[in-house]
Amino acid sequence: MSKILNLAPNEIHLWIAFLDEIKSQELLISYEQLMNTEERAKWLRFRFAKHRHQYLVTRALIRTTLSHYINKSPKKWQFSKNKYGRPEILQANNRLRFNLSHTDNLVICGLVWEKDIGVDVENQARQNATIEIADRFFSQQEVTDLHQLPEQLQQSRFFDYWTLKEAYIKARGMGLSLPLKYFSFHFLEQRTVKISFHANIKDEPNQWQFWLLQLTKQYKAAIALRQDIEQPYQIIIKKVVPLFGETDFNYITPLTP
Ligand SMILES: CC(C)(COP(=O)(O)OP(=O)(O)OC[C@H]1O[C@@H](n2cnc3c(N)ncnc32)[C@H](O)[C@@H]1OP(=O)(O)O)[C@@H](O)C(=O)NCCC(=O)NCCS
Repeated sequence: MSKILNLAPNEIHLWIAFLDEIKSQELLISYEQLMNTEERAKWLRFRFAKHRHQYLVTRALIRTTLSHYINKSPKKWQFSKNKYGRPEILQANNRLRFNLSHTDNLVICGLVWEKDIGVDVENQARQNATIEIADRFFSQQEVTDLHQLPEQLQQSRFFDYWTLKEAYIKARGMGLSLPLKYFSFHFLEQRTVKISFHANIKDEPNQWQFWLLQLTKQYKAAIALRQDIEQPYQIIIKKVVPLFGETDFNYITPLTP
């Protein structure tokens, strides 16, 4: 394995892999060999080749990425799941935290030391994602704010909300058991995002920090991090082909902060 990478306490590393760039049979066979029996069985159950490919690359991405930070062979990682399905490293000294997200052609993995982290990526060109989804699932405040925007800005803001909301529920590890209506995002000046909660959700807005990133013209990503003290974090993004190589990735722009 290559040398161990440093993940500073105030850094979040985001690894991204474009699925259509990973076609080499030799590499795909090496990815298969990294999976455990359970993963392999699940992989074989996917009916569509594109889902099988996504699953395989995701397993290779998480296993090889963790091995960049801790001296352990990619094959040796073991995972557990919480009752809502969130995967975590199954280790006594489990200080490294991660979260995964996929969308058409892209898989991302966010890593940080010790903190609750959630990541989400969405393809803004998706045809089936319209702001009617917001009317049904978002909070009343978000729906009002969204509809007050000029029409040409609504679709982009819809994806801001969507990725942020998903990143938050994933950082909490609870998925959709946290109703999306019961918390709201607010876009403030200086590209800052804040969260507020309905009384039904027991959480503290000040414990959270969020980032919204325009990775490419097509892909928007959000990161949610639970941290008590306001501490500036640096986001470092790497584009990777697992077991082949990685490069620093210059995304278009951080939308926040
Ligand atoms: C399962 C859920 C956590 C994420 O689902 P998703 O957005 O379809 O999928 P993503 O690609 O972003 O994330 C999937 C990954 O999150 C991780 N994950 C699964 N359950 C999780 C949980 N409870 N908490 C955090 N992460 C979880 C897994 O690593 C999973 O990938 P894997 O199965 O390859 O390991 C949940 O939020 C969900 O079902 N969302 C539905 C999306 C939706 O309809 N949103 C409405 C519009 S806002």
